[in-house]
Amino acid sequence: MKNFNQYKRFTVTSALPYANGPLHIGHLAGAYIPADIFVRHLRLKKKDVIHICGSDEHGAAITIKAKKEGTTPQAIIDKYHEQIKTSFKELGIDFDMYHRTSAAIHHDLSQEFFLNLYEKDEFIENYSEQYYDEDYQQFLADRYIMGTCPNCSNEKAYGDQCENCGTSLNPTDLINPISTLSGKTPVLKPTKHWYLPLDKYQPWLEQWLAEKENDWKVNVMGQCKSWLKSGLQPRSMTRDLDWGIDVPLEEAKGKKLYVWMDAPIGYISATKQWAIDHNKDWKLYWKKQENEEDNSCLLHFIGKDNIVFHCIIFPSILHAHGEYILPQNVPANEFLNLEGDKLSTSRNHAVWLNEYLQEFPGKQDELRYVITSILPETSDSEFTWKDYQARVNNELVAILGNYVNRVLILMHKFYDGKVASNGEKITLQDEFLATELARFSAEVETSLESFKFRQALQAAMDIARLGNRYLTEKEPWKTIKTDPEGARLALHNCLIIIGHLASAMQPFLPNTVGKIADMLNLPLNAFGYDEAIAFENEHTLNPATLLFEKVEDDAIDYQMQKLFDKKAAMTSQKAVTAVPAKENINYEAFATMDIRTGTILTAERVPKTKKLLKLTIDTGIDERTVVSGIAEYFEPEAIIGQRVSILVNLEPREIKGIQSQGMILMAENSEGKLGFVSAGDGMHNGSVIR
Ligand code: MF3
Ligand code: ZN
Repeated sequence: MKNFNQYKRFTVTSALPYANGPLHIGHLAGAYIPADIFVRHLRLKKKDVIHICGSDEHGAAITIKAKKEGTTPQAIIDKYHEQIKTSFKELGIDFDMYHRTSAAIHHDLSQEFFLNLYEKDEFIENYSEQYYDEDYQQFLADRYIMGTCPNCSNEKAYGDQCENCGTSLNPTDLINPISTLSGKTPVLKPTKHWYLPLDKYQPWLEQWLAEKENDWKVNVMGQCKSWLKSGLQPRSMTRDLDWGIDVPLEEAKGKKLYVWMDAPIGYISATKQWAIDHNKDWKLYWKKQENEEDNSCLLHFIGKDNIVFHCIIFPSILHAHGEYILPQNVPANEFLNLEGDKLSTSRNHAVWLNEYLQEFPGKQDELRYVITSILPETSDSEFTWKDYQARVNNELVAILGNYVNRVLILMHKFYDGKVASNGEKITLQDEFLATELARFSAEVETSLESFKFRQALQAAMDIARLGNRYLTEKEPWKTIKTDPEGARLALHNCLIIIGHLASAMQPFLPNTVGKIADMLNLPLNAFGYDEAIAFENEHTLNPATLLFEKVEDDAIDYQMQKLFDKKAAMTSQKAVTAVPAKENINYEAFATMDIRTGTILTAERVPKTKKLLKLTIDTGIDERTVVSGIAEYFEPEAIIGQRVSILVNLEPREIKGIQSQGMILMAENSEGKLGFVSAGDGMHNGSVIR
């Protein structure tokens, strides 16, 4: 790839968040914080750059949320679009445009793209059988179908994925599919769709991606290769849905564009709107220019679950269209975990940005710092509140804040805050410091430009470490008596170091740099990358203020308790909204089942299986063998003597070579935990359950 310095124009996009819930720290770590840092860095290099984002307002994510809250998709997107936009702004994520995919300009452009490909005959038109809810008279989105996972037998797998074992599924893979709309079994009906022939593009994709091999992150390239290796399949760009962008064809009435076709086009339509608002030419940022050197450098910041869409599908669409540039890089991050567990919106296991901003007012940079320090750049990483506290207290307070504060306090104490020396400009007077500062700044730059944000931040922090060491060594508070000129020189050098620190920290901690600028009584542009950091003679500093305060244990305990409480609340709430009820049966159907109380006499693992236990049960009628899939939840020794309920007239089955006679009844809660179902006291083995 060309070095970033060879580009003058940059089109930077951050994944459009679904407007179906607030942002959490996982979103920030995946895309938005690195994107913001990178864009700020480019601006400091005086590049022409736009940073584009907005709300993704189509797809099942939105309609499911609306249904859950008993409201309309429009109400959902209006609420969260504003909320998310405000949160980004408060955190200092500096977008040029925060647009939305419900805008007319976006609908128009998406339809234009579809028609462009349609007219070039790019799509394959095909019928497929899809689940249809007869009560609701509609085709069902994958997420609207639940059933048993063919892989792990989880009964609450979705039509696109089983959240228990992580397998990605097609709705027709599910055993006993149920429509979540009516709770009934859906029927298969043929329906026509328009498919993007990814298989046809595969050779081109392979060649294009091969050129990126050395520049793209290993985690991103790895996923791309694995998709290519398993062979790309045509993917339908249309859906039978009632929420989304109309497919612009007469014969496709009632059908919508696939959300993953329209959403990335949202980057372009947002740019168009920005260009209208600012009297610019959007084509400079998206279209191939006459001279290749004039093309903009397109970069997509995303989380790892978006890789295939940005590295394979969207580039295929752009390529098929023909007039558009392709991404130069897609620096996707992996996932951020929280306190030992996956972040989860549905389980409410998250640190929500809007809550953080409310509960930690003025502490935006603390969050930016901590998240940047632990970015999941090459593999998943973890946020914990204790680590947050430690990084703020031991790094921001003790190293950065402390350094700036000591220097300012001494300057006021000894010189009333005046920087002055023989009528000349005050510049750095130390060769070792000069070399070190240049080295750290270069390291910030090279690390950032290879998307190593953690390393870049550490290099910037090294400037504060250098300053602390220098100050401690020079001891101006002592030498002020014995060598006053030496003391003054040392403190002036310290001020220049603060200037370099501020310059390097700008992409990471914009608010903090603003405060430093105030204290130094300099305008922000004094810290540009190319500016020589210097003070005019007789320059007066403002009083020292604290850049950061210590995070106390109370605040951390409160946050951890809150996480714990939320999880507990979700669990109890979930039990109420359990799996939909099955269809009615008559009493006779029920009465055919012979269920008895019994006791487990022996239990042992079935060799070479993970899930199975071989049990002997006293059923009151006999002693019999039952093979039960509960080994992942119970140790064999722990359940001997356990009272159970057993279906005794279930046809015997051979499981792993063992004749299993009957089935133990188990209760399963919404988290997939199992419990035995046992009768109360006084029920001897063989008591009938009916
Ligand atoms: N809304 C998607 C998500 O949150 C991201 C869309 S990115 C875009 O996973 F390219 F499609 F815009
Ligand atoms: Zn499963």
